[in-house]
Amino acid sequence: MKEIFDRRSIRKFKDTKVPRELIEKMIEAARMAPSAKNRQPWKYIVFEGGSRDILLDVMDKGLIAALNEPSLPEAAKPGVYDAQNTLRIMRGAPVIILVLNTNGTTPFGPPQDIFGRITEICDTLSIGASVENMLLTATEEGLGTLWIANTFFAHEPIRAFLKSNDQLACAIAAGYPDETPVMRPRKDINDIVEYRE
Ligand SMILES: Cc1cc2nc3c(=O)[nH]c(=O)nc-3n(C[C@H](O)[C@H](O)[C@H](O)COP(=O)(O)O)c2cc1C
Repeated sequence: MKEIFDRRSIRKFKDTKVPRELIEKMIEAARMAPSAKNRQPWKYIVFEGGSRDILLDVMDKGLIAALNEPSLPEAAKPGVYDAQNTLRIMRGAPVIILVLNTNGTTPFGPPQDIFGRITEICDTLSIGASVENMLLTATEEGLGTLWIANTFFAHEPIRAFLKSNDQLACAIAAGYPDETPVMRPRKDINDIVEYRE
């Protein structure tokens, strides 16, 4: 409960290197998450140093390409600008972990049949559990993290860069925090629970 209440999204990190043992501990926690049919549909790719810079340059170019894409609806542009802001935050984090759904595919393909959709929902739920395990472990170790889904705006360029057919479910920025944000507002417990007897 302590880590659940202490965790915050961190958007400012110190330069300090994160020891490899802590990254391994986070991934060990991720691995222990429950998953639908125990499929464990996850893979983690850890980027540090020069490889992190190259990845973020790929994301940068992908976001510019998204903005220049004539078929991008005007209403979608603020989402891409937000992703550019997330990218700026990612550049300040010493570690970026990409989280792949190894059972997933591009979100830009044709709609799937009902079984495909249910499978994808279940795999996404499983990956969410695994990511939360990582974030709580990081909090326990004094690290700050940011859970990132804005990578979706550069999904295809990043996937091509990775030479992977998996779905890029999300990313995690991690490092020692250089800010102490207050808790972001939460819905009242009475507004989110309903007991039926
Ligand atoms: C699936 C998911 C995707 C998110 N994507 C982003 C993102 O791309 N950029 C960002 O700055 N924050 C992102 N966040 C962080 C949320 O904004 C944050 O969790 C929320 O505002 C609550 O704040 P807290 O994490 O400090 O409690 C994401 C969180 C989740 C769970």
